[in-house]
Amino acid sequence: MNGRSSFLIVANRLPVDRSIEPDGTASWRRSPGGLVTAIAPVMQRRHGAWLGWHGAPDETLEPLEQDGMNLIPVPLSAREVELYYEGFSNATLWPLYHDVVAPAIFEREMWDAYRAVNERFAVAAAEAADEGAVVWVQDYQLQLVPAMLRKLRPDLRIGFFLHIPFPPVELFWRLPWRKELVEGLLGADLVGFQLPGGASNFRRLCRRLLGLPYKGNELFLDDRVVTTAAFPISVDFGELDTLVREPHIIQRAKEIRAELGDPEHVLLGVDRLDYTKGIGQRLEAFRELLEEGTLAPGEAVFVQIATPSRERVEEYRRLRDDIELQVGRINGEHSTLGLQPVQYFHQSYGREELAALYLAADVMVVTPLRDGMNLVAKEYVSCHHDLSGALVLSEFAGAADELRQAYLVNPYDVEDVKRQMMAAMRSTPHELARRMRTMRRRVATYDVDRWASEFLNALESPASEPATSRTASWQSD
Ligand code: ADP
Ligand code: F6P
Repeated sequence: MNGRSSFLIVANRLPVDRSIEPDGTASWRRSPGGLVTAIAPVMQRRHGAWLGWHGAPDETLEPLEQDGMNLIPVPLSAREVELYYEGFSNATLWPLYHDVVAPAIFEREMWDAYRAVNERFAVAAAEAADEGAVVWVQDYQLQLVPAMLRKLRPDLRIGFFLHIPFPPVELFWRLPWRKELVEGLLGADLVGFQLPGGASNFRRLCRRLLGLPYKGNELFLDDRVVTTAAFPISVDFGELDTLVREPHIIQRAKEIRAELGDPEHVLLGVDRLDYTKGIGQRLEAFRELLEEGTLAPGEAVFVQIATPSRERVEEYRRLRDDIELQVGRINGEHSTLGLQPVQYFHQSYGREELAALYLAADVMVVTPLRDGMNLVAKEYVSCHHDLSGALVLSEFAGAADELRQAYLVNPYDVEDVKRQMMAAMRSTPHELARRMRTMRRRVATYDVDRWASEFLNALESPASEPATSRTASWQSD
């Protein structure tokens, strides 16, 4: 890549992960998670560069080009992976921001590494950005970058988007480094959240922690105004809608059903193997339906795809053991010769296979205990142009705000999950079509391009004058 960029994405991960095969050769694979799903198509349509870690420790790589994107790798040592990525990002912030569904760990050494790595990203971004460039910083791993970057390059227009929920003040307050994190975010001109609730949690926190006044969406600092707002992230509806009309995908979906023994109902779960996703809760609901005889043997198959994720973090290791034990028990108790009610895959799949799976599924079961948005729910909807299929969706996923016609469930209430899974399976084609049509209209209108355009337009439009701070009221949401 030559020269500096006028548009820069800064994220913990690059869209591709470099892995070293057992024979010592290096290869690139698509990185896991919703952030990459959303940002990759946006980047492919805009000229710019993407700065992030390439997924392998102790390796410094030169900038490269992949799939039409300029990538700038940021190195992390093995110790930094342990303390910054697995530690502060995924053992402190991740559980804390997801309603502490697992305990959060607070360790000074992890915080020190988080700060040091954020500084490295800020310096790399300052070097890569052109004069007056737009820099869009992503997610909870890099919350200190906006302020660090502003100090180095006050000429830049800096946006930040949080892909996960922003917690209520009462939870955030536990963080020993709460003030530094909030001040880090306030280095941005625009701080975006998935839902209005996250944005208002943040504004309330700024008022309580730093005494900052705000009015509407604007927070008034002494010398600047920071805009805060919700931008619900989405998927590339057009790409999926086109893909599932391809004859080979339709054929593959038929094969998948046949391979599963052509049951009356195919239920599907697709997640990173994460304790926030409520995989155990949905499997328990399915087990009870079999146990009680509400579902006849062979009537339904549950396909659970669980992408390996953060495998060296203790809670994730325990989760894998728990889920695999649970799957083994259900199949042990309810399999018949040649027919297993739960088909579990601890693997990643390509976009085409995933699209065929969505197409093959009668009921998509998405039951997170807390989720910023959940793109899987929107991907499923994007794939059902024939208006078939039902979405069972947790009320605690951001997507539930938009997809009101899903079969909404409280994942903590196993009876509710069972009831809605059965309602989805027993529904008429007419009722399914009524729900699916409205959900598809929503995702088609608010697709990932619209998300990115609305964020970037807001970032580039001038904020109010800071002088307004003198008249800003102490507003409560
Ligand atoms: P998160 O960002 O927490 O992982 P999302 O549901 O928002 O959750 O996004 C997950 C993304 O990862 C989706 O785009 C989904 O298609 C993709 N994905 C999930 N599981 C797999 C898998 N087994 N193989 C390939 N892609 C997957
Ligand atoms: O937004 C959720 C998210 O944490 C992203 O930041 C991340 O890229 C993705 O999930 C996958 O997680 P990880 O990068 O830790 O594998």
